[in-house]
Amino acid sequence: MVDLNIKIGTIEFKNPVMVASGTFGYASEFCDFFDPSVLGAVITKTVTEDFRPGNPPSRIVETTGGMLNSIGLPNSGVEPFIREKMPFLRKIKTRLIVNIAGKTGDEFARVVEKLEAVDGIDGYELNYSCPNVKEGGLSFSADAAVAEKVTANARKKTRRLLITKLTPNVTSIGDVGKAVENGGADAISAINTVVGMAIDLRKKKPRLSTITGGLSGAAIKPIAMAKVYELLKRTTLPLIAIGGITDTTDALEFLLLGACAVQIGTQNFVNPAIGRDVVEGIADYCRENHIHHISDFTGSLVI
Ligand code: SIN
Repeated sequence: MVDLNIKIGTIEFKNPVMVASGTFGYASEFCDFFDPSVLGAVITKTVTEDFRPGNPPSRIVETTGGMLNSIGLPNSGVEPFIREKMPFLRKIKTRLIVNIAGKTGDEFARVVEKLEAVDGIDGYELNYSCPNVKEGGLSFSADAAVAEKVTANARKKTRRLLITKLTPNVTSIGDVGKAVENGGADAISAINTVVGMAIDLRKKKPRLSTITGGLSGAAIKPIAMAKVYELLKRTTLPLIAIGGITDTTDALEFLLLGACAVQIGTQNFVNPAIGRDVVEGIADYCRENHIHHISDFTGSLVI
């Protein structure tokens, strides 16, 4: 038997494989492909206080080894989320983390406060890292002091698991990691997308309506790995690795580095059942290598 169980804060997860916010909708969209209950956690698309239409098209561009997006956090707002999405989400037999964004630090705290009354939620992932919005977004993790304050305000509102999702688009992700640790976060997820741009030569125009967007997919895996490594050196918080994970090997590499869990993002669009495949792949690897508990493997990289 292989035990893939992990613990982050006080919460146990059945395995270390999660799906990244914004790449798995609200889970119902993927049920034709596999049962999301096999995942360690489902992380929802970002929820904000009020309705957001998102950015105008074009919002997505395929690039070499990845994808550029500038979606702009469209969602119907926290009240419709509770009414319309939670009844299905709470039926999934795994952990549920709600990803939250706000235009201001107070908005993060207000959304957390509203969700506190809702059962079936195990934690929150504070999105300090969307590069595609004019207000909020990157500004919360561009300044370590701001990141600490917003985290501390949200912390006051909840005892549930509090994860902060950080951007690589800063001078020192380690400083921001330290700041959210001081602010009371239970864990860090990293990285969100890398700011990028694409041009249409024929039209002589940028391909995205917002000119720049966020690059994700296999192309950013080495960047993600270096940033996760930096965070592991600078904080004692559990690290949930995101960035270019396309298969079991990628996931295992991040666990070997020291991440306690992984989130699969862009690859969900390529293979909608990738989450299930990676859970099975990690279990197979452990069996083949006589690893009884995943924690015996995590962080065993030799440097
Ligand atoms: C978006 O909605 O623009 C992408 C989400 C994100 O980068 O956090």
